[in-house]
Amino acid sequence: MTRYVLTLEDSAAFEPWREMARAALQRAVPPEALDWRIRGGETDLFGQITDDGAGLEALTALPVVKTVTLRASCIALLPDLLCHSDPGRFALAYRIAWRVQGNPHLLEVVTDADIARARIMVRQNREDCHKMASFLRFREEPVQQGEGQGERRRFLAWFEPQHHILERIAPFFSKRFTDMDWMILTPRGSIRWDGKELVCSPEPCEQPELDDGFGELWDTYYASTFNPARVRTKAMRREMPGRYWKNLPETRLIPQLVAGAEARVRTMAEQELQPAPAFHERLRAREQLPAEPMPDVAENLEDLAAQVRTCTACPLHCSATQAVVGEGPADARIMVVGEQPGDQEDLAGRPFVGPAGQLLHEALGEAGVDRGALYLTNAVKHFRFRLQGRRRIHQNPDAGHVAACRPWLEQEIALIRPKLIVSLGATALRALDGPGMAMSDVRGTSWTVGRGENAVRRLALAHPSWLLRLGEGAQAESERQRFVEGLTRLRDFPDQSGS
Ligand code: URA
Repeated sequence: MTRYVLTLEDSAAFEPWREMARAALQRAVPPEALDWRIRGGETDLFGQITDDGAGLEALTALPVVKTVTLRASCIALLPDLLCHSDPGRFALAYRIAWRVQGNPHLLEVVTDADIARARIMVRQNREDCHKMASFLRFREEPVQQGEGQGERRRFLAWFEPQHHILERIAPFFSKRFTDMDWMILTPRGSIRWDGKELVCSPEPCEQPELDDGFGELWDTYYASTFNPARVRTKAMRREMPGRYWKNLPETRLIPQLVAGAEARVRTMAEQELQPAPAFHERLRAREQLPAEPMPDVAENLEDLAAQVRTCTACPLHCSATQAVVGEGPADARIMVVGEQPGDQEDLAGRPFVGPAGQLLHEALGEAGVDRGALYLTNAVKHFRFRLQGRRRIHQNPDAGHVAACRPWLEQEIALIRPKLIVSLGATALRALDGPGMAMSDVRGTSWTVGRGENAVRRLALAHPSWLLRLGEGAQAESERQRFVEGLTRLRDFPDQSGS
């Protein structure tokens, strides 16, 4: 197979990639035949570009075999994806554009390895934007001789983003700091604002000398706003050595502030004992909160659980007792995804401990499957219910709740890397595979998503609550048998990964 080498600048520019991708798609050139490279990147530096593949010219000389336009769903995802600094982003974007042609719902399949990777990369970009908005520090430039009093004040900042996010984040700064002139310099380019025009340049910058004489004042301010009762040393350790904090000199005070935190908390507690605010007021206040910024990508299940427990991404957190996180071995080969915690799970804080969980437990036993080897979780982490007198009646989560919780499910899958994912019921099916699959078509069947070592086997089964609702009788019994038969596939799932 002829290979074509396509070379792009190391930037987030979408158009050049789109032009090349369109040319290749129109000529039906498969992803394996393309070698996407970055100008000045490693392979380019070693001079391999012209040696081992034909170039864009040879590709465009091929006959056009079809007219292709990128789907709207791709246009929504790929420009964001290309902001990432991973050199593999161009190839990944092309693979997605190529595969979407045969599967219009591909972007909704979160278990697909390409989609999962793309979503994580997009989230990392957003996280980078969030960090830049939070940790960037402007320093005022001194007024030059001859400049009048009426001049606008000028500020300069240095930041080291991990990804190509400048064009994404620039409007945030221009809306926030409209009444001053400023420039943000970074190794990936710069942004300039003069009150009228916002200019982004891809030219890399050098770190400037920045000293506005306010360093000491900042230290004092920082130390006095440091809340000793909310010290998150784990999160701090994660941030501190990185690029984000190293440009904030006051962070060198942290060790000393953390060391004194316990004593300060004790003093505060002695001085400020106050009754807790009324429960309903607290709920109302929580409902008013703006949506949380995107959480960090968790490093392990423990971190993830801590993040899920503070999630306020949808209103369900207001009425539920607590978020219910997944449970099971971190290296489980099989993950079982239910709908949402029920009444008892909500109170206990553990999945599948109520009546549906009991049915599942018994059916697993009958199928000869060890429950302890499974990772059990839900598509939605908070209980949705309506009150009937004092009883909490289960309500199905809607698409918005599923979407708000999907990042948690994606992270669970990314951390556990199960080889088989079993969905119980329609909500789990939708959360994992998007709205394109109907439960009635796939119930009891299994299929593979992804390829090679990223291949994941999927199995769709009924939800145990549905079996409970069938009550007793011949139909209920035969559906229950069908469920147990479906679960025997977990027992028989081969040990060899990828099979
Ligand atoms: N139903 C679910 O889908 N999950 C639970 O955890 C309990 C009941």
